[in-house]
Amino acid sequence: MKLKILTEGDEKLRVICKPVPKVTAQIKKLAADMIETMYAAKGVGLAAPQVGSDLRIIVFDPRTSRRRKPQVLINPVLSELEGEIRGDEGCLSCPGLWGEVTRYAHVKATGLNEKGEEVEIESEGGVLSVVLQHETDHLDGILFLDRLDPAQQLRVMKEREEL
Ligand code: NI
Repeated sequence: MKLKILTEGDEKLRVICKPVPKVTAQIKKLAADMIETMYAAKGVGLAAPQVGSDLRIIVFDPRTSRRRKPQVLINPVLSELEGEIRGDEGCLSCPGLWGEVTRYAHVKATGLNEKGEEVEIESEGGVLSVVLQHETDHLDGILFLDRLDPAQQLRVMKEREEL
């Protein structure tokens, strides 16, 4: 089922999400719905608060191949954050807005998959590294807009007024 994506200004996007205590059928359904919603919106990642849930769940598919390969990460924890990459980011919750964000290049993400199994995802840079950090930020109520430098924030504010 396709879910409604909340947009910036909605308080639910600013909530610190709670860990998922157990991967139940309900959680699996939510993750599947989030994947459907992400693809329908042509996004590469989606976090639970964007669809109004306060649970620590992210889904993503950095589209490194033509075939769809959606991944679910429940209670994600990032570690081994090293290096630096800088690139343009947008967000399904901030339609029409873009900005350059500096992120760590190397990321290790651990958490549970939709079967409740422990998984480890390592990324050396590129879209996957950015998506993991961007989506995990959402679980702590942080939007990419918060991570722009002051000059870019000013530009985005002006653009938003024009939207
Ligand atoms: Ni986002």
